[in-house]
Amino acid sequence: MKVIFIGPPGSGKGTQAKRLASRFGIPHVSTGDMLREAVAEGTPLGLKADAIMKSGALVPDDVMIGMIRERLAKPDAKKGFILDGFPRTLVQAEKLDALVSGNGSDPLRVLRLLVPDESIVKRIALRRTCAQCGAIYHLENQPPAVDGVCDRCGGKLIARTDDTEGAVRKRLEAFHRQTTPVADYYKSKKWLKEIDGIGPVDQVFERIAKSLS
Ligand code: AP5
Repeated sequence: MKVIFIGPPGSGKGTQAKRLASRFGIPHVSTGDMLREAVAEGTPLGLKADAIMKSGALVPDDVMIGMIRERLAKPDAKKGFILDGFPRTLVQAEKLDALVSGNGSDPLRVLRLLVPDESIVKRIALRRTCAQCGAIYHLENQPPAVDGVCDRCGGKLIARTDDTEGAVRKRLEAFHRQTTPVADYYKSKKWLKEIDGIGPVDQVFERIAKSLS
């Protein structure tokens, strides 16, 4: 199973991709998480990506394509993967096709999460992420049992540095300008399914599972 999640920032890609990966036993590949790890480790890529991410702009295509090529070549991705945050531009989509297509390979299944911009702002403002394991919370919709502490690993919950109002506005603009054409590209290939991303997390997950069955 090769699944791609497309959706605006805060639409629930990470939340749903983690669940789906655990249901199917295939890796959740989040380019945002990979970049944040590089930033935390202070690698040359992390140093370059940090300022770009904080501004809400996209990291250059060649960097992202190299990162995904390396990740999908790992043994755990051979039986499938859930991509979250990639591809985000037409160039990335075309490179991904070339990378994963081939005789007998599973077709890409593309899920577009539909969430209006006005809901995004509220979701992102109250999001908290575990600094240790990456688990995602929302102070109203999915609060942790103990304030500021991850239920799963006890790690500290933090707000992301790109969740500022200015960066979120820019991320939304980047989504509409650069990633909507990617959804249209997959729609023209008839690989795209649109999922209503509004409602409780469990309900959205059931819609996703049904669309893949
Ligand atoms: P990335 O990390 O991919 O961020 P994003 O696309 O902006 O998406 P988010 O992680 O903000 O949101 P999400 O859709 O995963 O929502 P979540 O599940 O957390 O990318 C960050 C940056 O990295 C980019 O801006 C760019 O600079 C760079 N980058 C990454 N990939 C790149 C690429 N391919 N090319 C170039 N640059 C790249 O949910 C959000 C909140 O809502 C949470 O609090 C959650 O609990 C809550 N929530 C979830 N579902 C629901 C629901 N159904 N109802 C109510 N609340 C919900």
